[in-house]
Amino acid sequence: MARNYFIAGNWKMHKTRAEAASLSLELVAALKNGKHKYLVAPSFTSLETVFAVIKGSNIILGAQNCAAEEQGAHTGEVSVLQLKDVGVQTIILGHSERRHIYKEDDELINRKVRLALKHGFDVILCVGELLEEREAGKAEAVCKRQTVEGLKDVGAADISRITIAYEPVWAIGTGKTATPEDADAIHAYIRKVISELYGADAAGKIIIQYGGSVKPDNVAALMAKENIDGALVGGAALKAETFVPIAKF
Ligand code: 13P
Repeated sequence: MARNYFIAGNWKMHKTRAEAASLSLELVAALKNGKHKYLVAPSFTSLETVFAVIKGSNIILGAQNCAAEEQGAHTGEVSVLQLKDVGVQTIILGHSERRHIYKEDDELINRKVRLALKHGFDVILCVGELLEEREAGKAEAVCKRQTVEGLKDVGAADISRITIAYEPVWAIGTGKTATPEDADAIHAYIRKVISELYGADAAGKIIIQYGGSVKPDNVAALMAKENIDGALVGGAALKAETFVPIAKF
């Protein structure tokens, strides 16, 4: 089953508006003939600025998180209504930094997933095991739990708006990439989990990105694997000189 590659840049907590605008301008020019699907996810403060630059291009605007409530007394949170207002189309949820630094659990992430879908967003749901979980032989079990719980009560009609990003926590920002074989094995397993939940057709179509120290020199070997359909890039997404070669692998 042919799936289109989806290459996304997660800028995390980097860049002022001016820096974000400048990188966006470079990406619009460099990726305009790119063959894949592209997304950038700047900080909340730069969303409006970046949207003004990428609007009408082949780059989608993503957010890195959202609140689990539509609006109300939630100091410091950002709502789906506010994200829609500034041009966001896709929301990254369940990133390992949200899970492990900010203690988001599967139940909270699932509420965010359902709220984002209800408001018409696409979602990139991140899953991935810690080093000690991998060493204990629990990588598959952790990814299954995060996938099943993250998608709880997400109906078959909405699964086409979900992308899964497999991001082994030990590979994020460490320069240690999962081998293409190890990553592909987990991707295949996640696809099997999706098949059990939504059927073979949905499982064949779902995009599963790999994230964790993706660089220009390792992207091609990862993308060559049967079950790896794209990348969620952190550090190397912060500069055109490293993101463009990844995006045009
Ligand atoms: P790095 O590419 O810096 O390892 O980050 C991956 C990531 O967390 C993307 O969401």
